[in-house]
This record gives sequence, C-alpha cells and structure tokens, in this order.
Amino acid sequence: MALHYEKIRPTNRVLAWIEDRIPLLSFTAAHTTDYYAPKNLNVWYYFGVLAGVVLVNQLVTGIFLTMHYTPSAAGAFDSVEHIMRDVEWGWLIRYMHSTGASLFFIVVYLHMFRGLLYGSYKKPRELVWILGMLVYLVLMAEAFVGYVLPWGQMSFWGAKVIISLFGAIPVVGQGLTEWIMGDYLPGDATLNRFFALHVIALPLVLLLLVVLHVLALHEVGSNNPDGVEIEDTPGANGRPLDGIPFHPYYSFEDLLVTSVFLIIAAFVVFFAPTFGGWFLEHDNFVEANKLVTPEHIKPVWYFTPFYAMLRVVPHKLLGVVTMFAAIGALFLMPWLDRGKVKSIRYRGLGYKVALGMFAVAFVLLGAIGAGAATPAIAAVLGQGVNVAAVENGLGRVLVAAYFGFFGFLWVYTAFGIERTRPVPTRVGSPHT
Ligand code: HEM
Repeated sequence: MALHYEKIRPTNRVLAWIEDRIPLLSFTAAHTTDYYAPKNLNVWYYFGVLAGVVLVNQLVTGIFLTMHYTPSAAGAFDSVEHIMRDVEWGWLIRYMHSTGASLFFIVVYLHMFRGLLYGSYKKPRELVWILGMLVYLVLMAEAFVGYVLPWGQMSFWGAKVIISLFGAIPVVGQGLTEWIMGDYLPGDATLNRFFALHVIALPLVLLLLVVLHVLALHEVGSNNPDGVEIEDTPGANGRPLDGIPFHPYYSFEDLLVTSVFLIIAAFVVFFAPTFGGWFLEHDNFVEANKLVTPEHIKPVWYFTPFYAMLRVVPHKLLGVVTMFAAIGALFLMPWLDRGKVKSIRYRGLGYKVALGMFAVAFVLLGAIGAGAATPAIAAVLGQGVNVAAVENGLGRVLVAAYFGFFGFLWVYTAFGIERTRPVPTRVGSPHT
C-alpha cells in the first residue's frame, strides 16, 4: 500500500537528536512495520527478495575477487587460476560469484514471469516494471562484460562476436566496433574498460536502479495473485483489511526462504560449480587464443534465447534489430496489454494459452541458441535429414511465436475480444 510516513520520536536523546536531523528510524518503519503487503502473496513473490540476496552475494564476492584479479590480457587468465589454486578460499569465492551469476538470471526470469502471470506491470505499477526492465538490461551488460574478464577462449571469442554485431549498423558500424573494443580485436584496452565497467560503473547503476525499483513498488504497493488492490478495502485504522505488515510477517518468511535458497545454492557451488558447462563453459578453462577459434561459440545459457534470434534471422542487421526488439517489446507490456483484469486467474483463455506459448518459445529458443536442440532434432528425425535447416526453420517459427505474443495481446485486449471472469473485491485465502 502507499507509504505511510509517521515521525518516530525515540526516547533515547541521542537517537532523537539524530532522528530530528535525518529520519532514519521513521524511514525504516515506513518501509517495514508500517508497510502493508497483501496477505495472499504466494511462492512467486519469493524471487524479489532472492534477487536482492544474490545481488549482495555478487557485490561481496566481487570485491574479494577484485583484490586478486589482474585486468590485463597477459595476466588475467593466470590471476584467475591463482585465485582458484593459491588464494585461501579463493575457489569458493570464485564459484560463489560464477554460480551467483546464473542464479541471478534464474531468479530474475522467474520474477519477471510472475509479473506476466499477475499483470504486475499494469497501472499503477508501470514504473516498477520499467525500472525492473532497466535492471534487467544493466544486468545483461554486467554479465557480458564480467564473462570477458577471466580471458578464457569463450571470453575472447564471445566478446569478439558480440562486439562485432555493432559492425552490422550501416555507416558507423565498423568505427563503433573499434571504438568499443579500443582495438581491432579484443585486447588489453577492451579488458581494461570492461573491468572498469564490471567492478564499478555498472554495479553502481544496478544498485541505484534496484533501490528506485523497490521505492517505486512501496509507493504503489505490491500486487498479488488475485490482482486485487488491497487499498480499496481499508479497515477501521485506515490500513488495508487484506494487508499485513511487511515486518515481522514477510521479513521472517523471507528469512526462511533465503535459508532454503542458500542451501540449494551451496549444493551447486560445492558439487556442480560448472553445472555441466552451463554455468561455466568448458572452453573458458582454456586461455584466450586469437589464433584458435573454439568449435562452438555460444554465450552462457541466459543469453541463448536472444543469441538464437541472431542466428536464425537470415540478415545480420535484422538479427540484431530482432534481438533488441525482443527486449524492447517487454518494456512496452504496460501499454500493449489493454486488458482491465490483472491476474491470470481471472483472464481469458487466450491470454493463458498465449503466455504459455510465449514461455515455451523462449525456452526452446534458449535450447537452440545453446546448441542443445541439435542432437534432439537429429535423434527425432533420424539420418539423412538436414538438421541445421530444420533447426533454422523451427527457430524462425519460435521467433514469430515470441513476437506473436505481443501482437496477439494487443489485438486481444484492445478490441474487447478477451472474455474475463469476475474479479473478487477481496483477496483469496493465503498461499493459494
Ligand atoms: C536485481 C534485480 C531485482 C531485484 C533485487 C528486485 C527486487 C524486487 C522486490 C524485493 C520486489 C518485491 C517482492 C516481490 O514482489 O517479489 C519486487 C517487485 C517487483 N519487481 Fe523486481 N527486482 C529485480 C528485477 C526485476 C525485473 C528484471 C523486473 C521485470 C521487468 C522486475 C519487476 C518487478 C515487478 C513488476 C514487481 C511488483 C510485483 C507485484 O507486486 O506483483 N523486477 N522486485
């Protein structure tokens, strides 16, 4: 619900003196004990706090890695090996950071999907969504420049392929590519600027955006699985009847959820840190070599849906435009979806089917981008079939399905085709 600022007057004179000059306690209370969240939040609402937990993990482990890392083409790879072998607990810090990157995207993708399930991007939360999307963009930039730092084969060739994409832009493309790299190939200049971006510039922006994201959310209040605005039903004390104070109710639940999440994360860190090559690619344990191209150049899994778009769209510039449009379309969700009903529970069948197809298209594109679809297609179709052609065709259908979701949604909601169910005035029972 909207923020409720009440000036706190501590009895302790020192605290009162401070509070009169900077109202830290009043601010904290407004965002915790006085912040009312809907009482029916379900598991989909765990991922916001978990994203915050991973963010802190990345910042802390990143600081320690920076203490031992050398940002130069000659020293980077060796310094990472030094961290893994010689630095006390260095292997743990590094694996916490590399695993954290993948967990970040798992959590953020689920967090975003929740937004699509319950219409959390709709009025009055448009800005919460836009700020979230900006977080996502910066997170992708942060992950990309970070992956270049260990200076393995995939760091080098990944950087080369992705930066070269800018070369597809007419007229300025080639100049832009050299300007970003600071060279004709990724080298010292590239590594130095990526290091600066990764350890200070982008984390600062990320942190600022996350703070704004949560402040914007607290101004309008959380949505919930019923999509009911709890502020519309205030109790005698003026607080929402269907709301409960964030602290202690959700703060303690979040503590439990965080503990379970950390146990799962520890299993990955200790027993499967590379996750079979999905979290840290095998090729990246080989030092960068500009004379040897790896057999398959592909990004880490969280970029593969967009990478697949690049691969299956026939024209290079069109591929780049498609990739950026795929992210841009998500920004526009609050305005593309004209439906009045927020939660999928009360939306028309069309929305349910379209969202399901969108999610499947995204995952399958990810499989194609990662090269995981090729053996599956070969196994299904058998010998004598042009697997690459089938994969390309399938990829194009999936790109159409991805964008089709946005187009369908606009037509479906703007022309009153959607048949919704009546939305209750009060929220349902908790944890349903
Ligand atoms: C570092 C990344 C992020 C952090 C730390 C973060 C944090 C949070 C937190 C703590 C909440 C409240 C709890 C919850 O609803 O789960 C929240 C809500 C929300 N976030 Fe994020 N978020 C992040 C990224 C994103 C992204 C990428 C998007 C999507 C574009 C997004 C969209 C939203 C929306 C729409 C809500 C309101 C949901 C509702 O009330 O139903 N967030 N976020």
